[in-house]
Amino acid sequence: MNTPASGSSHAKIILIGEHSVVYHQPAIALPLPAVRESVTLTLRSDNVQQLISRYYTGARHDGPQQLQGINQLVDELLVRFNAADAGFDLTINSHLPAERGMGSSAATAVAIIRALYRFFDQPLSHEQLLVDANISEKIIHGNPSGIDVATASAENPIWFMAGTQPVSIPFHLHGYLVIADSGIHGQTGKAVRAVAQLRETDPFLADQAIKGLGRLAYTAKSALANDRLADLGKVFDQSQVFLQRLGVSHVRLDEMIGIAKQNGALGAKLTGGGMGGCMICLAANEATATQIRLALAKSGVAQTWLQPLKSEEH
Ligand code: MEV
Repeated sequence: MNTPASGSSHAKIILIGEHSVVYHQPAIALPLPAVRESVTLTLRSDNVQQLISRYYTGARHDGPQQLQGINQLVDELLVRFNAADAGFDLTINSHLPAERGMGSSAATAVAIIRALYRFFDQPLSHEQLLVDANISEKIIHGNPSGIDVATASAENPIWFMAGTQPVSIPFHLHGYLVIADSGIHGQTGKAVRAVAQLRETDPFLADQAIKGLGRLAYTAKSALANDRLADLGKVFDQSQVFLQRLGVSHVRLDEMIGIAKQNGALGAKLTGGGMGGCMICLAANEATATQIRLALAKSGVAQTWLQPLKSEEH
């Protein structure tokens, strides 16, 4: 046993393909290594299993309902390692805003799994990590495609299709992504259920939007590979229209998208589950990105991030 043992992960941003990815359409997502999460496990001399986090500190099974997914994950791993009665402090340190479409629950799962495997000195393959993280994601999101976990554990931007291995894709793009938090809790589980329901009540509309988003993922892939920033901007705008039709946007996100466009964004859309959470927009240069961030801040947006879109190796 290693004590203390740590595991880490990071935020993710879906560039294109949220929701349609649940229905086997492709999506593109990028890791945000600068927005990190880490988990540390420290052995205790008693058999108390204590969780220490910004939202809750105390015995992990006495915590709020939102911890159900994480508790189930930890329970299953402890049984696997014959250590159901082990006593430990599990400390979560996160810079990710929770429930904002940045993959906070997936990042937590990935960091916990890495920490637990290290704690019990067990080898962990990437495939096993993805399978294990699905335990909590299923409880939290109902029908996860796996994209959040795949990106929270990836080093490079990925092309993702449910049921297949994610593939790293190069970015040759001279542009900037501005990510802005609406301050409203996103509701991924609810949004995923709303889309499932729309497929029942209006299959034609839902199917058109889902397939449209899938086609846009291919256009985005080609724009990224060939430095066609304006094309990627159009992809953002068109996908936002489809996401609105699916009913997963939010009036505040729509407002923020309008502000970004008025201040020079080449395209803007929600990112992640929607119904709150974050929006992303594309800026041709740092000056425009700064102008957009200032305008959003003036309208009450508390937090924005800036991400260059050029891969490290290019
Ligand atoms: C959530 O970040 C992305 C969704 O497509 C759900 C999923 O893929 O599991 C909304």
